[in-house]
Amino acid sequence: MLAIAILAAGKGTRMKSSLPKVLHPLAGKSLIDRVLSSTEGLKPSRKLIVVGHQANLVEDSLKNHQNLDFVLQKPQNGTGHAIQQLIPKLQGFNGELLVLNGDVPLLKEKTLSSLLKYHKESNASVTFLSSSLEAPTGYGRVFTNESGLVKNIVEEKDCTNEQRKNKLINAGIYCFDWQQLSDVLNLLSNQNSQNEIYLTDTISLLKKALHFEVDNPFEIKGINNRLQLSECEHYIQEKLKSLWMSKGVSFIDPISCSLSEDSSFGTDVIIEPQTHLRGKCNIGNGCHLGPGSVITNSTLAENVLAIHSFINEAEVGSNTSIGPFAHIRPESNISKNSKIGNFVEIKKSIIDEGTKINHLSYIGDSTLGKNINIGAGTITANFDGRNKHRTIIDDYSKTGANSVLVAPIKIGSHVTIGAGSTISKDIPDKSLVVERSKAIIRTKTNER
Ligand code: UD1
Ligand code: CA
Repeated sequence: MLAIAILAAGKGTRMKSSLPKVLHPLAGKSLIDRVLSSTEGLKPSRKLIVVGHQANLVEDSLKNHQNLDFVLQKPQNGTGHAIQQLIPKLQGFNGELLVLNGDVPLLKEKTLSSLLKYHKESNASVTFLSSSLEAPTGYGRVFTNESGLVKNIVEEKDCTNEQRKNKLINAGIYCFDWQQLSDVLNLLSNQNSQNEIYLTDTISLLKKALHFEVDNPFEIKGINNRLQLSECEHYIQEKLKSLWMSKGVSFIDPISCSLSEDSSFGTDVIIEPQTHLRGKCNIGNGCHLGPGSVITNSTLAENVLAIHSFINEAEVGSNTSIGPFAHIRPESNISKNSKIGNFVEIKKSIIDEGTKINHLSYIGDSTLGKNINIGAGTITANFDGRNKHRTIIDDYSKTGANSVLVAPIKIGSHVTIGAGSTISKDIPDKSLVVERSKAIIRTKTNER
């Protein structure tokens, strides 16, 4: 039987933030979400999350995960005190308790399963992840005896100068035999420099304590401050970009771009500087993104061009060109061979193939057919002050510059609307319509 506990009650003082530390994002996912996801394949029978500081926020952020048992730690008197809160919850539980610090986000599931395997095979009371670091500052130091058993862990703040030279550190990820741990949990004291009850003090009280060194020290990097957060972000981004480069994506200036782990790319995609992909994006072969584009939760078919534009929760067909300076908003579907040009905003609209909206337009709550030409400055007036209404324009129609279409409205196919018209009634197929006041022309007297 396996139970997992994630420690997420601390404030994260060193972050200097109003947001709890474990909710800070890395490549778009919070630290705690990452830690929890790394345990999914282990199929634990219990998942306990220790919350305290801004507990509601932390709980809300994990709404999408199932079968979580939140345990409140108030006040937060240290990591050992956090685990003491589990005693009533785990009455009668017999098995391993895997404890994870909520601020160690790069852990791989494989490492956790190796830890569990090693722990069981060695019949240990506790086995925890360790690493030998060139720069061990900030971590608890691990001391072993001649036979390799761990004697104790000393927090950096409690180390003597001599002890601080030890480079073997505690990663904050432990597999405990719960029965043995619960026997010693109440023996902990807070007689240390931080006056906290340390989970690490259980190590010297347990019969057989082992450490398990990880291969890649980055995996166990703990985040206490913004510098460490940015180092982890950099690490994730480097890995993601080199992965996609190896699969045929070009980055002109990789350092200025960022990707999400849930995005995927075809081959011969070119990503220009200052371009960012967020959430779940699917980018087809031959797309050319940026410079300066931000694409979120969107699907782009092949050979889409998107320069200096925002595309959010939209679908774009092949050979369509977006921008420069276009804003495609959620629930928009733009078909192939279309063109959405300079300073154009599209919201919740379906646009069929070959349609061009080249300059200075707002198209919202609309359905546009094929091969339409929307003149510069055309606006769909979709909002009457209370409700939103739809605009429909059928194939091959053209709107003149500065047309306003007052929704709800249906413009038929092959319609031409004269420039400067405000149209507020339906227009049948194959019509020419102009709505414009007559120009008054007089000769000026007294003109010098
Ligand atoms: C801890 C370890 C240290 C280890 C390091 C690895 C202890 C005493 N020290 O130090 O040996 O090298 O992690 O990254 O455990 N938390 C609670 N309740 C509390 C205090 C903390 O839930 O009362 C949570 C925090 O939200 C955080 C985690 O426990 O997610 C670790 O706490 P933190 O204060 O960052 O411990 P470190 O000083 O990094
Ligand atoms: Ca920490």
